[in-house]
Amino acid sequence: MTGERSFTPALGHAALTPLYDSAIALMTREQRWRERLLQQISPHARDVIVDVGCGTGTLALMIKRATPAATVIGLDPDPEVLSRARLRAQRAGLAIEFEQGFARDVARFANRGVTKVVSSLVFHQVPMDEKRAALGAMRTMLQTHGEAHIADYGLQRTALMRALFAQVQMLDGKENTTPNAQGVLTQLMTEAGFANVVETAVIATPTGSISLYRAVRPNDQGTRS
Ligand SMILES: C[S@@+](CC[C@H](N)C(=O)[O-])C[C@H]1O[C@@H](n2cnc3c(N)ncnc32)[C@H](O)[C@@H]1O
Repeated sequence: MTGERSFTPALGHAALTPLYDSAIALMTREQRWRERLLQQISPHARDVIVDVGCGTGTLALMIKRATPAATVIGLDPDPEVLSRARLRAQRAGLAIEFEQGFARDVARFANRGVTKVVSSLVFHQVPMDEKRAALGAMRTMLQTHGEAHIADYGLQRTALMRALFAQVQMLDGKENTTPNAQGVLTQLMTEAGFANVVETAVIATPTGSISLYRAVRPNDQGTRS
């Protein structure tokens, strides 16, 4: 359960949540990075995929639409976005499980044979200890050789991208967002025990650049074979 922990709502303030889907479409070149992320995830029928911080369910719905036989599970601490996600899935006729919980709670799916864990636009919103705990839980929960695919605001490489990213920082605050803008995610993924950590794409958007990352859970000896 979510206990007494708190979270930043999808658009920084709970009152803005109804505007979330339109804001993301308008302000992030959403179609471009989501399509690229979906390509990278490359879902297969036998995949069991958990979307951490699933929000209103856009990515989970895309995955399920692309590969109806895959098992797709969405996890988010905010009951408001979860009810929006459930409604969207129901209207689209897509069987997706949505559960309430924080990123670190993803460990609860350890016995589900999870082959891929995915997450979009979540890590820039969470404190450093939750970034670390989330990545550790994602690695532990995944099957050996399971994959992590993350899209989020990453290293802001130019003055223009840093200036545009300030809009996100106004909504979500500087404390949690600054480490992402300094490019901390690849280091944290490696520290969490992932192998083959790669930033696979950097996409400029009107709110700063969004990076895609890929990593693999190694076997218990720490190698890929
Ligand atoms: C910007 S929204 C992104 C939603 C969705 N992944 C997407 O791509 O549209 C960030 C989401 O992260 C969730 N969130 C915030 N703190 C979290 C945490 N500690 N663990 C998991 N999810 C969290 C919020 O409730 C929100 O739904």
